Amino acid sequence: MSTATILQQTRNWVHSYFTGSSHLTLVLTIILTAFVINYLMQYFAATGKVPAAQHLVPTSSNYPSTAYTKARKIPFYTFLNDFMANRVEIRKRDGYGLSHWNESVTFPLTLRSLWTFTVQVLPTYLWHSRAANRAHWRRFYDQRDDLFECLMGRLRLSFTPRFIQSDESLAEAQTHDIGRLTEEDLALTPDDRVLNLDTQWGTVELCWLSRLPLYIHSTSHSVELAQYAQTLAERASADDRVQFHTQDFRDLTFHPQQFTKILALESADWIGQKHLPDFFRTCHDLLAPGGRLVIHSTTSPSVFGSLATSSVASPPGGGAISSLFSLLLAPLSFLGGRTGASSSASATPTGLSHYLHETFHYHLFCLTKVCPGRDTVLFTTLADYVAAIQNAGLEIVRLDNLSQDASKHYAEWFANWDHLRARIEMRYGEDIYRQMELYLAWTSSLFRRGGLQRHLFVLQRPFDNNDA
Ligand SMILES: *[C@@H]1O[C@H](CO)[C@@H](O)[C@H](O)[C@H]1NC(C)=O
Ligand SMILES: *[C@@H]1O[C@H](CO)[C@@H](O)[C@H](O)[C@H]1NC(C)=O
Repeated sequence: MSTATILQQTRNWVHSYFTGSSHLTLVLTIILTAFVINYLMQYFAATGKVPAAQHLVPTSSNYPSTAYTKARKIPFYTFLNDFMANRVEIRKRDGYGLSHWNESVTFPLTLRSLWTFTVQVLPTYLWHSRAANRAHWRRFYDQRDDLFECLMGRLRLSFTPRFIQSDESLAEAQTHDIGRLTEEDLALTPDDRVLNLDTQWGTVELCWLSRLPLYIHSTSHSVELAQYAQTLAERASADDRVQFHTQDFRDLTFHPQQFTKILALESADWIGQKHLPDFFRTCHDLLAPGGRLVIHSTTSPSVFGSLATSSVASPPGGGAISSLFSLLLAPLSFLGGRTGASSSASATPTGLSHYLHETFHYHLFCLTKVCPGRDTVLFTTLADYVAAIQNAGLEIVRLDNLSQDASKHYAEWFANWDHLRARIEMRYGEDIYRQMELYLAWTSSLFRRGGLQRHLFVLQRPFDNNDA
């Protein structure tokens, strides 16, 4: 058979395939091809600059560990299996466990990860009813109460503070930051009517009550947290000035404009991307004109949702699917970047593939092993927050980037966790210890490198013209 005939036959075959097949077959073929290319490119990724041995230590000498010592990249699932089986450790070094590990680990999309995504993560993300939100929140906070003390210490403050001095400890920074939140961001005065949307363990409320004669409503889904906070308030004889609820704040019967100040440090993370517009609208309605709302947001870098930036307006499913597509197509855009093709569609200097795969696997790991249901961050970008805020009619008074602070915050938790290792393993088992350890080190590392972002928003409901 001559080359010409082979070419001709191939052309005929391709032609009949593309004209004769349904759209579905075509789409599936494209996805499958992209998937295979993606897998191969991640699997045979270029040698990292930082060898795995700088981050990971094989725990026994007879473990075949050349992969960890040579300057060669390790597929994430190989590492995860070894890690959970106690064959490698995360190297503890200046608090940050995995600061450059994107240089030594690759994150191929495997069938297993796609399966986990489609079956475990995506349905929760799309469904995300209030009942599901409550169930997830309670599962996380209600069951392992003293585990949080191991993580956070006696104060039990879980929010990311702004570190002002470099030698400040986490607890010191948090204590200072409550002051800053109170005096500058919320600008609390004795006349304020205050709502806290994250009871946490009641520490913030107590701090406010010790400074000002306020009456506070505080809510979270967790029964344990509310009880703990109630006990704390009773001990401080402040329980007649604070009321702890355990409902979704959208189900509580508050009056419109009942509050002048609202604080929400972690609730946005749990509420689900599709509820963000509703969240901000409800806050807007609960605030009196001129009232303030302070929130923390955790978001993925905009590359992650660059094909899905309009997802706040459209149903979130659209965002999820296009993000998955951008993930599959990432190697192609990488090729595009190499040949100098313009990347005008995405305004990212480094091309799409930079954090896509790592962030995706990070979310899969967190949302299946650590905190199922806390998935606002999955595809939400800062732009999504800004859009939801503006559509709700709130003004942005101030926006702080807390990403580096968050990295430091998780690094300190990582150190606390390491410190109490024996106790945690005895009480909760090795698996829990390790999952959380990886979660903390990885989160710290991603925040440090910009693969996750945390921001503080100070928002205000504008004064209406007609009631001024
Ligand atoms: C790892 O992350 C850093 C950003 O902190 C980036 O500069 C570097 O290119 C990344 N390496 C790889 C191989 O993606
Ligand atoms: C916030 O800070 C991080 C880390 O310093 C950075 O990567 C990120 O781009 C910043 N975000 C914005 C919106 O500037």
